Amino acid sequence: IPKAKLGSTDKTIPLVGFGTAEFPFGASSETMKDSILHAIKLGYRHFDSAALYQSEQPLAEAISEALQLGLVKSRDELFITSKLWCSDAHHDCVLPALRKTLKNLKLDYLDLYLIHWPVSVKPGEYELPVKKNDLVPFDAKSVWEAMEECLKLGLTKSIGVSNFSCKKLETLLATANIPPAVNQVEMNPLWQQKKLRDFCGRKGIHVSVYSPLGGKGTLWGTNLVLDCKVLKEIADAKAKSIAQVCLRWAYEQEVSVLVKSFNKERMKENVDIFDWKLSQEELHKISQLPQRKGFPGLEFISHEGPYKTVEELWDEEI
Ligand code: A2P
Repeated sequence: IPKAKLGSTDKTIPLVGFGTAEFPFGASSETMKDSILHAIKLGYRHFDSAALYQSEQPLAEAISEALQLGLVKSRDELFITSKLWCSDAHHDCVLPALRKTLKNLKLDYLDLYLIHWPVSVKPGEYELPVKKNDLVPFDAKSVWEAMEECLKLGLTKSIGVSNFSCKKLETLLATANIPPAVNQVEMNPLWQQKKLRDFCGRKGIHVSVYSPLGGKGTLWGTNLVLDCKVLKEIADAKAKSIAQVCLRWAYEQEVSVLVKSFNKERMKENVDIFDWKLSQEELHKISQLPQRKGFPGLEFISHEGPYKTVEELWDEEI
């Protein structure tokens, strides 16, 4: 699986990663572990986790088994991401949260630690939807300072954010000593994020993508991407699947994708995207698809809370 450079550093990120988010939580810890282990056998090296997902422990078990079996020689061959949940998005909660994540993962360091949302809720709960009464203002500056501290302590190789608009990135960059290496956002042919990608490109922020297939089966996802007629025509003409067309398209946009499947065939299919390409005409057809955001984040909107409308959460970039 090819890799991209992270900003101006010498660090790299594998361009296809394995997602471990599941909402509502369906898979048992055992299924999760077995799927991750199988993914390692297939060549996946990048795993995306979060304090919220209940996947850190099965990921830890899969990593230790992979090392025992010799599927990877050392931990350095893997790229492991986790995320700071909203209830820990307070300056003094960041370091303890990362330490807990590392303990769950049985690791000394992460490759990437992300602020999951530009949202804070009162400490204590790890759940989505969050309790709307618990929403409090998110102080990007002080939370980011604590993220920078985690980096300096060597507990993570890179730090970044997730679900940040251009405007929120701009605000963060204005006071950050260390810029975010990554912004992880929703992107697929029906939500192409052109403006955000251009912005991140100019600022040297790598874009990593969740729901590259539209997040079918998740709390926020739909079947719209995997049922899209235009994508089906392109897929049929190339004897590929719609999922492969989506993933290849994302790869050609120079982003990394986090794709989740617990089905062995589909896990294999999802990394079989590197020895063929989309034509100019196919890319043009995809660029013309009507746009619709899958995950507006209504969970974080409240009349009494800091974001009163979806437009405020995304700074109109929706
Ligand atoms: P499954 O685990 O049964 O394969 P996203 O990555 O956009 O969040 O989408 C994940 C959803 O898409 C999962 O429900 C997953 O189901 C399904 N999926 C993953 N890979 C494929 C594929 N190659 N073809 C069809 N569906 C897929």
